[in-house]
Amino acid sequence: MEEGGRVSWVRYGPLVSLLVVLLALWFRSPQNEVLDDRLDTVLSSLLRAEQKVGMNNVARPKVAVGFGGCVDLIVDGVTLLNKIGLPLTDQPLHHDYIVNMEQLAQSFAYFFAPGAAAERFMLNDTLFSELVEASRDLPGNRWAVGGNAPVMAGRMATEGCDVLLGGSFSPDFTDVLSQHITVAGTIVEEPDIHLILEYPSGASWGNYTSRRANRYIIHSDDHNPYLASMEEFAEKLDNFKPDLVVVGGLQMMDNFPFQEGERHTLLSRLADLLSSSSPQIGIHFEMASFVEESIMEDLLHYVIPHADSLGMNEQELPNLLSLLKGSNITVLSDPNPRVATVLDQMREVYRILNQRHRDAHDAGAKGKSLTRLHVHTLAFQAMIVTRGSQWKNTMSATAKASLTANRHVCGSDDIDPNKARLIMDDSFSVSRREGSQRIPLQETRPVSCWDEDDYEICVAPVLVCTEVYQTAGGGDNISAAGLVLQI
Ligand SMILES: *[C@@H]1O[C@H](CO)[C@@H](O)[C@H](O)[C@H]1NC(C)=O
Ligand SMILES: *[C@@H]1O[C@H](CO)[C@@H](O)[C@H](O)[C@H]1NC(C)=O
Ligand SMILES: *[C@@H]1O[C@H](CO)[C@@H](O)[C@H](O)[C@H]1NC(C)=O
Ligand SMILES: *[C@@H]1O[C@H](CO)[C@@H](O)[C@H](O)[C@H]1NC(C)=O
Repeated sequence: MEEGGRVSWVRYGPLVSLLVVLLALWFRSPQNEVLDDRLDTVLSSLLRAEQKVGMNNVARPKVAVGFGGCVDLIVDGVTLLNKIGLPLTDQPLHHDYIVNMEQLAQSFAYFFAPGAAAERFMLNDTLFSELVEASRDLPGNRWAVGGNAPVMAGRMATEGCDVLLGGSFSPDFTDVLSQHITVAGTIVEEPDIHLILEYPSGASWGNYTSRRANRYIIHSDDHNPYLASMEEFAEKLDNFKPDLVVVGGLQMMDNFPFQEGERHTLLSRLADLLSSSSPQIGIHFEMASFVEESIMEDLLHYVIPHADSLGMNEQELPNLLSLLKGSNITVLSDPNPRVATVLDQMREVYRILNQRHRDAHDAGAKGKSLTRLHVHTLAFQAMIVTRGSQWKNTMSATAKASLTANRHVCGSDDIDPNKARLIMDDSFSVSRREGSQRIPLQETRPVSCWDEDDYEICVAPVLVCTEVYQTAGGGDNISAAGLVLQI
């Protein structure tokens, strides 16, 4: 994919629209019943795959998760923007960060129409407070524990792990956390608030219509960018003896107005922390929406070389790959990529990062090879896991990640096939290379796994939720759910 995500997305745009139309026609046809049967079979098969491995007979795995956290204020995005009277724009534009209403409108329009997940720092405190105030009494708003680390911690605690969570929270925040979560961090009085502008598929704002459900997140953190809990976390880590360390939430540093050198100091401290942990302990890094090139470079230098495992979505994958290949960051990619495209990108990321690792190792640098890569998309879950590495149960983990996607977005542990549909094709090609093998989607064995080079690949279709409760935090729930079966 030399040309970068945006171009290919534009190229496939008409095809996607055509597919949507065909799909709509198909849904109305008498074939509906066949389709329902198919969904039921895929669901029961995924559930069977998920339950194939349990954690019941082992002691609770221990997972240490950093950093930070916030209070999410979740609102319907269009309702909020209409309420504050945000002037419409006919110019969707990418901005690294937001300073005023006009930029907010442009940036929102840029991601809203394709339905791509985005997260932006707001440099204007006044505007941020105005938005929060307007959201407080918006009908249907919700408050929730937010931030990558607490959401992943919560999911892992629910799935049977004991968790050490690195974050500085207010006392009432700590109160609502699971009893299986121990907090390492200082107490803060005013927690950081993240404003989550959710929108369903087909929502309209001005003359823009969203092509899929997603969210646009605005934050203006005071605590999280400084990884304020890192020292307390580091102190408790030795005694806690984790089986797995998970790092997320670093995107709060993106475009934050740090003093000169401050970010380097923080990230090199983090690199020390990660590289000093015993090599047997797995380290997972959950990517997120980054747009500042220099912080991505920092991640490639300080964080990614120490991770055995990476998790990311369909936007973050091409972004990372593009940077690894020496090109610019891709701000917006196809929100509905094909399996073949994603697998090719994953193979390349895996290959380049492991090549870098070997080069660094030869030069005497510390670091680990990448043995696990999990990409979560709307339509499917994909994993690459090195054969013979510490990660177990890849097939079941992929199934669990897929089921978690529906559970999270629909907001219910019980999956209702009436609120789900399959948008992955009947078969998929394993690569965009000509003559590549096609794998049919078998309803009774929906997770396809096969070997290549030194790794195994697994792909599972997602039963895409059609009655969206929440998209924000989806990636964290999904990644965490996939990890728990692999420790
Ligand atoms: C939205 O409407 C305005 C004014 O009618 C027009 O100039 C603009 O091109 C439209 N934008 C899109 C994306 O259709
Ligand atoms: C910040 O937002 C406020 C409220 O919308 C606005 O009046 C002000 O001009 C903005 N500041 C800058 C620097 O744009
Ligand atoms: C990359 O970004 C730089 C700076 O924003 C720009 O000058 C350059 O043209 C971009 N290169 C590509 C290949 O888009
Ligand atoms: C996602 O994780 C959060 C935090 O643990 C939890 O509150 C939420 O219910 C999860 N979503 C689902 C549907 O499990």
